[in-house]
Parts: sequence; structure tokens; C-alpha cells
Amino acid sequence: MATYLVTGGAGFIGGHIVEELVRRGESVRVLDNFSTGKRDTLAALRESIELVEGDIRSYHIVREAVKDVDYILHQGALPSVPRSINDPITTNEVNVGGTLNLLDAARDAGVKRVVYASSSSVYGANRDLPKNEDMVPLPISPYAVAKLTGEKYCQVFSWTYGLETVGLRYFNVFGPRQDPQSAYAAFIPKFITGMLTDASLVIDGDGTQSRDFTYVSNVVQANLRAAVAEGVGGEVFNIACGQSMSLNEVVEYLRTIIGTTGRISYGPSRPGDVARSLADIGRATERLGYRPEVDLEEGLRRTVGWFRQGV
Ligand SMILES: NC(=O)c1ccc[n+]([C@@H]2O[C@H](COP(=O)([O-])OP(=O)(O)OC[C@H]3O[C@@H](n4cnc5c(N)ncnc54)[C@H](O)[C@@H]3O)[C@@H](O)[C@H]2O)c1
Repeated sequence: MATYLVTGGAGFIGGHIVEELVRRGESVRVLDNFSTGKRDTLAALRESIELVEGDIRSYHIVREAVKDVDYILHQGALPSVPRSINDPITTNEVNVGGTLNLLDAARDAGVKRVVYASSSSVYGANRDLPKNEDMVPLPISPYAVAKLTGEKYCQVFSWTYGLETVGLRYFNVFGPRQDPQSAYAAFIPKFITGMLTDASLVIDGDGTQSRDFTYVSNVVQANLRAAVAEGVGGEVFNIACGQSMSLNEVVEYLRTIIGTTGRISYGPSRPGDVARSLADIGRATERLGYRPEVDLEEGLRRTVGWFRQGV
């Protein structure tokens, strides 16, 4: 049994990782300040985990939290491109400052490996498709700059101090428990709950923008593999489904699954949004043994099923 620290473990992705680690019988500590995460996420697991309530920006809290930890799965961050455009300073403090704080503590504590949640947004204005890890990143939002900076710090800690780190560039993750309500809600949970309740919905732009939507269990698998795979310290990997779909196509799938056309209109496109996204997942397949097990359609069915229980 190994000890894992999951930062952001009360969040959407972190919560799914914690659930799987507990299922596997690992020892799990969560560090979260519940800024975007929810207590409900951990409610059923509360007896099986150790919870440290605190901020990754706090030097002392982070030093306590990394004690006796084998692996860190670092999900804690302020996600969302629009949030970062509204408040770039806090995004930088949490996503860059918090990450550096964690790496510094992990190095001193002798942690075996830090797996870092990076983002496909780092590719930004680079229009080449599919995205591969050797392309030049061209961030076009403060969020993407922060995620890329965190990734670079991870690599520098590997190369300079010998702390093993692995960066995972997630592509548009979706699944049960993703927040549909906040001002920064992602497209899929917002549209599923909106269509289930017959709310009027607005697509930002013309809906032809495409994404490599990735069901959350694939991201959990990638994290657990990245923690222990041999010879990957200091590297970054795309984690995606390897299929691209436009927002309009996703809406069509949802219409079929939910059985409603929905009340959908089109608005202006969002600043900082990239037009098209598709991942080359060859490197993760080869080096981590990663295989997306749930495709977009099946993932949408599972996610709709979960949200249906709650409306
Ligand atoms: N959801 C996606 O599509 C996606 C895509 C690419 C990358 N990511 C990255 O994956 C990670 C998890 O994202 P998510 O979608 O689960 O978001 P989320 O908001 O649900 O989870 C983030 C968690 O971090 C916690 N947190 C935030 N600031 C903190 C702080 N200062 N100290 C301690 N905890 C803090 C929040 O309370 C929350 O529980 C993030 O690093 C995000 O940048 C997500």
C-alpha cells in the first residue's frame, strides 16, 4: 500500500481519483480549500481518507500535507479560462505559486513522484492538428500561461533537483459531478442539466469549435499509471480520447440521449477560446500504457444518467 496526496481532491477530477484510490485500498490524503470543490464529493469517502483542509499557497500547510507521502497527484487549481481572464492574479497565485510551493515541499520530503494536472489549453494559438507534445505551446489566456508555467516548474524540479514529475495535459474532461452551475461551468454539464430542465441555452460562437472531450475515468487511469510508470520523470503527455467533436455534434448526441431538442441559441464567441482541438495520444499510449476505455458517446450516456438522478 502506498500513500497518495491528492491536491484538489474535493474537486471534479480529484474526487474521481480519490474514489478509485480508495477502491484500490491505497492510503489517501486530500489537501483542498473547498474554493471550487465540494464537501459532498468526499462525504461517502470521509472515513477512508485523511482530509487536510487548507490552501496550496500556504507554505506550512503544504509542508505538513506532504509528510510521509509516496506520490502526489496535483489537481488543485483554479480551473477555467474565463475565470483567469477576469482575475489573472489569483489564477497565477494558486496555479503557479501553489504548484511551486508544493514542488518545493515535495522535494524536501523525498516524495517519489508528482503528477501534475496540465491542460490542452497550453497549445493555444498553435493551429496544427493533432496536437502532439513536441509542438510549441502558444497560450492565449492567463489560465494557459499558468498551466504551462506549472508544467515547466515540474520539469525543472525533475532536472535540477531529481524530484520525479510527470505533466498530464488533459483535454476537456467531463463526467458525473462536474459543476453545471458556476459562472465558469464547462459546456457538457451545463448543457446536460439545461436540456434536462428545458432551460434556454446559449452556445458561445457558432458551435463549430471542436474539442477532444475526455471522460473522467480515462483521466483517473492516466494519473494512476503516470504515478508509477518507469522512466517518465520530467515528461509531459497528452491525455485525451483521441477523437474530436464540435459543440454542435455534442448537442446532437445529447438530443438523442435525452430525447429533447432543447432551447438552444448562438451568442458571441468567448475570448481565449481555441477553435479546434484534437490530441495525439500516441506518447501516453506507448510510455504510460494509457488507453481511453470510455469513448465520448458512452461517456455522455453515463454523465446524462448521473445528472438525471439529480434533477
Ligand atoms: N476539467 C477539465 O476539463 C480540465 C482540463 C484540463 C486541466 N484541468 C485541470 O485539472 C485539475 C482539476 O480540475 P477540475 O475540473 O476537477 O476542477 P475543480 O474546480 O472541480 O477542482 C479543483 C479543486 O482544487 C481546489 N482548490 C482550488 N484552489 C485551491 C487552493 N488554493 N488550495 C487548495 N485547493 C484548491 C478546489 O477547491 C477544487 O476542489 C485542475 O488543475 C485543472 O486546471 C481540468
